[in-house]
Amino acid sequence: MQQEFRDKKLRGERITALTAYDYPTARLLDESGIDLILVGDSVGMVVLGYEDTTQVTLAEMVHHTRAAARGVKSALLVADLPIHTYDDPTQAVSSARALVEAGAQAVKLEGGVSHLPQIEAIIAEDIPVMGHIGMLPQSVREEGGYKVKGRTQAEAEALVRDGLAVEKAGVFSIVLEIVNPEAARQITSALTIPTIGIGSGVQCDGQILVTHDLIGLFPWFTPKFVSPEARVAEEIRKAVQIFIGRTKAGE
Ligand code: KIV
Repeated sequence: MQQEFRDKKLRGERITALTAYDYPTARLLDESGIDLILVGDSVGMVVLGYEDTTQVTLAEMVHHTRAAARGVKSALLVADLPIHTYDDPTQAVSSARALVEAGAQAVKLEGGVSHLPQIEAIIAEDIPVMGHIGMLPQSVREEGGYKVKGRTQAEAEALVRDGLAVEKAGVFSIVLEIVNPEAARQITSALTIPTIGIGSGVQCDGQILVTHDLIGLFPWFTPKFVSPEARVAEEIRKAVQIFIGRTKAGE
């Protein structure tokens, strides 16, 4: 898998990735030809109604990974390790195993140099790992919001060091979340593994979005960097109103 992703980068073939947390969405994405499906801990906000990802549990991730896995035939299925399930290497391996048993082919965790022992321990168990640097949603409370990372050259260089360290540890790909586009360009050119950007400009080797944002299924909040391609929430409201009207009219 590592080689397949590196080869795509070498060929200049952009990698496509979206989130899914259930069987029908995963199946629709898979049938549409997406390269990678992420059972992201964003499930906490867009499906479970939490304020952020910091309340998501491993049991919830296992439940949603099982459902999504039933819908996937071709795409690579990656599942997020939620907060405090990889605080040390032993815990990281046991949590990663639980997600693989639920059907994930790889796991993703947030952090760079700070998380090398966890990344190495999981990879030593033959479980592929995807990295995630830049804005780390699991740290949103300490950070005080979703802020752009890599604005200064010093910050960009620190991100490049994080990227190089997790690449050396063996991750097959890395998410760059809300990274300044110039910093994302520098990271992308320094690494041999593909960078998958979210809100990080067009110079990344691929792009990932939360599907609910792309299809307009979470209308109460849309990140600034997303241009929705559909308005599914409005379609649901319309259909429900038609149903209410027909039912009340005795049809
Ligand atoms: O949880 C998630 O959906 C993610 C993506 C935003 C990259 O981590």
